[in-house]
Amino acid sequence: MTRLAGKRALITGAARGIGRAFAEAYVREGATVVILDRDLERAEATAREIGPRASARRLDVTNLDGIESVIAALAAEGPIDILVNNAALFDMAPVTEVTEASYDKLFAVNVKGPLFVMKAAANAMIAAGTRGKIINMASQAGRRGEALVTVYCATKAAMISLTQSAGLALIQHGINVNAIAPGVVDGEHWDGVDALFARYENRPIGEKKRLVGEAVPFGRMGTAEDLTGMAVFLASADSDYVVAQTYNVDGGNWMS
Ligand SMILES: NC(=O)c1ccc[n+]([C@@H]2O[C@H](COP(=O)([O-])OP(=O)(O)OC[C@H]3O[C@@H](n4cnc5c(N)ncnc54)[C@H](O)[C@@H]3O)[C@@H](O)[C@H]2O)c1
Repeated sequence: MTRLAGKRALITGAARGIGRAFAEAYVREGATVVILDRDLERAEATAREIGPRASARRLDVTNLDGIESVIAALAAEGPIDILVNNAALFDMAPVTEVTEASYDKLFAVNVKGPLFVMKAAANAMIAAGTRGKIINMASQAGRRGEALVTVYCATKAAMISLTQSAGLALIQHGINVNAIAPGVVDGEHWDGVDALFARYENRPIGEKKRLVGEAVPFGRMGTAEDLTGMAVFLASADSDYVVAQTYNVDGGNWMS
């Protein structure tokens, strides 16, 4: 279990959920991990629980100056080998009810933030001569639209596109950029999604979760741990020849 021995990873939004599971998996594989989250208190608690090879810094990915200064400070401490662009927000509305506020918030957190985190980390990797790994979190929601999920789907489609362009631009520096497209992953994120579906589709709390789980060909919703194998692979030398791809890790929900 040392496929990431000596590597240093930054993971945005890793105070909880999928990012936290990635932080735990990377530490198990021998890496040190910096959790970057807007919720510093929870990020610090998570880092303490993971152990001495995890630490936390406050970063709100909508703050472009903050991105520059945090990445510069981390780069000054040592090489950045791995970046996982994981932080994101969810919201729901059909096209007839979309608001500018929801659009601006989701694109700021889910697209603009990750793009500029990727830019800062890539420049730090290039300056240090690091053959780094960048992993973006897309979603099955980026593979096709959903009637009630207008803006979030568009942000995740944008992540697939950014992964392709950045992947093609950065491989000349030996930096791999790839993405993971999860399906439905149980946790606090999906508790919020379920509550929104309950409102829009007039369902009892918990019903949408049960239905989406039953619809997965594998037979259940995913867990954050179901994604860690792909996250370790894309962070490791095993993926050196993998460029600009988005991998579905969704129990068979989507094929592409
Ligand atoms: N859970 C799912 O079913 C699912 C499915 C497909 C894709 N994804 C994607 O996987 C990633 C992780 O999802 P999750 O389920 O763990 O989500 P989550 O909501 O449980 O965790 C998101 C984390 O991001 C942080 N965050 C939010 N806004 C931030 C900001 N502006 N700056 C910094 N940090 C911020 C939160 O504090 C939180 O710790 C996201 O990109 C999500 O879109 C999740």
